[in-house]
Amino acid sequence: MLGFLRTMVGKSGMVKPSCLVRPVAVTRITGRYLAHQESLPKLPVPPLKQTCDRYLAVLEPIVEEDELQHTRRLLEEFQTGGVGERLQKGLERRARKMENWLSDWWLKVAYLDYRMPVVVHSSPGVVLPRMEFHDRQGQMRFAAKMISGVLNFKTMIDNETLPVEHLGGQALCMHQYYQVLSSCRIPGTKSDSIVNYSQGRRPPSHITVVHNFQFFVLDVYNRPKTWAKAYSTLIKDRTNKESVRAIQKSIITVCLDAPMPRASEEQYRSRAAVQMLHGGGSRWNSGNRWFDKTIQFIIGEDGSCGVIYEHAPAEGPPIIKLIDHVVEYMKQSEMVRTPMVPLPMPRKLRFNITPEIKNNIEKAKQNLNIMVQDLDVRVIVFPHFGKNVPKSHKMSPDAFIQIALQLAYYRMYKVCCATYESASLRMFRLGRTDTIRSASIDSAKFVKAMDNSAIQNMEKVALFEKAVRGHRTYTDMAIRGQAIDRHLLGLKLTAIEDLTSLPEIFMDTSYAKALHYNLSTSQVPAKTDCVMCFGPVVPDGYGVCYNPMDEHINFAVSAFNSCEDTNASRMAQTLEEALVDLRDLLEQTPKAKL
Ligand code: COA
Repeated sequence: MLGFLRTMVGKSGMVKPSCLVRPVAVTRITGRYLAHQESLPKLPVPPLKQTCDRYLAVLEPIVEEDELQHTRRLLEEFQTGGVGERLQKGLERRARKMENWLSDWWLKVAYLDYRMPVVVHSSPGVVLPRMEFHDRQGQMRFAAKMISGVLNFKTMIDNETLPVEHLGGQALCMHQYYQVLSSCRIPGTKSDSIVNYSQGRRPPSHITVVHNFQFFVLDVYNRPKTWAKAYSTLIKDRTNKESVRAIQKSIITVCLDAPMPRASEEQYRSRAAVQMLHGGGSRWNSGNRWFDKTIQFIIGEDGSCGVIYEHAPAEGPPIIKLIDHVVEYMKQSEMVRTPMVPLPMPRKLRFNITPEIKNNIEKAKQNLNIMVQDLDVRVIVFPHFGKNVPKSHKMSPDAFIQIALQLAYYRMYKVCCATYESASLRMFRLGRTDTIRSASIDSAKFVKAMDNSAIQNMEKVALFEKAVRGHRTYTDMAIRGQAIDRHLLGLKLTAIEDLTSLPEIFMDTSYAKALHYNLSTSQVPAKTDCVMCFGPVVPDGYGVCYNPMDEHINFAVSAFNSCEDTNASRMAQTLEEALVDLRDLLEQTPKAKL
């Protein structure tokens, strides 16, 4: 069956794309990547007082008055007693010495030291539109085209011709693109690590394919193998380590899934989301994954397709850019191929399963099945409007959606909660993310006013506009490296590295509340009509990811079934209502009267 693939994978770079990511030049530009990276500014360390003041403002809507007063006192001591200043100086010294004072720490703290399973708790999935094939043959053809699309994208990475991205007119760090192919997470007892084989002397030329829980190596480049190489392969002992290494080294993994339980048209996307996030459990396709692999494309027999990626090396946007490119590439009906030279046959990867390994697999199956049972995901296509409506009211669509989320949460729980929205720090060299705090003093004022019949619509609109503007201002501050969260983390880690006692501000209940994100959210925009999805980050929270298109918005909302207080479908529905109500509020309140 897999042999079919080898006849379908053409060489890369052979189509004439119309709207693909276009290389800046067709040939290789050696050194372009490094030159670009070096031209980027370094991530700044924000002023201490600015962060302390902004931290207090952030706490206001989410902690009690006495907690706020207590934290205010702690912050004063922190700033005036010399501890804060000493940590700030330490952090500034680190920033002068390193390319990015945060990125190594962040990789460790947010990802590699994280001891929960990456499945559901860290790795996002992406649901693509359902494709039009319904059988094994269609699945194979699609897989072959998709692999070809990935290799086409890889050419731009290898040749350093990938166009530089921009945000707010500023060139962005492109480092993450160079980290996601041919890489994998490696487990460790205390901390994991990431390997990337693309820069080695002999970069990999194979992908791994997994079908029926069996892994195969598939060479995707037609490179003549010398007898010496074949001989050394021949005499190698195929141990488990080698099989694992083959998976780790592979450019990507392609998971050819068995059919999942049938779902109605309405339920399809939600069912596909769990297929992407965890595979559906040991009965279905969870065994058809290598969850540490950075990028796994998933293709079911029933037309379902998507991606799961291990989060440590990159955020969603570069992954989505790659997906957009692959999807556009596959739309090209005329794939002009050079004469087909057959690729080597796929090799099945062998594993020697000892009783101890079997036992471990059984335990892993049980754990995974518990997580599968616990995760509730609802994917919705919000049909009423997309970016068009906020834009027509001269509002940032992202801020509009975030305030709608605040309203939805408030309507369900009658409180505001700590809310995380990812902000890109890629304007800076090796930049990852900071947090946009969507629950603000202004958003709290607005959500409390919205359903208060004693308040006039004109006043509600004014409060809404202020909350939206405030959100956009926070976003601008965050993407320019001036948000509070990574700075506070940096101060805390400096204290830990200095082996001094941890300042009280980090042991305060306000700090714990500020980091308990009942709403963990992210916008991952795509040209493809898809949506990324991820699990909640706290047991009683929601994960909300969205792709705002021009005239509709795709949302993926997740929650845990084990928490009685949360419900993904209810949150999704409340969010839909909130969005519609906000539009109606704006449209039913004539501008002239404002
Ligand atoms: N009036 C009219 N139009 C407006 C507007 C206004 N006041 N404000 C914004 N717009 C427009 C923008 O120009 C943009 O137009 P486009 O559709 O032509 O591109 C569009 O609305 C979207 O802007 P906005 O909704 O404000 O969002 P953004 O694109 O600036 O993105 C973030 C905001 C926070 C998502 C982005 O800065 C970011 O950091 N992204 C990274 C997310 C990430 O890393 N996630 C990780 C997931 S794992």
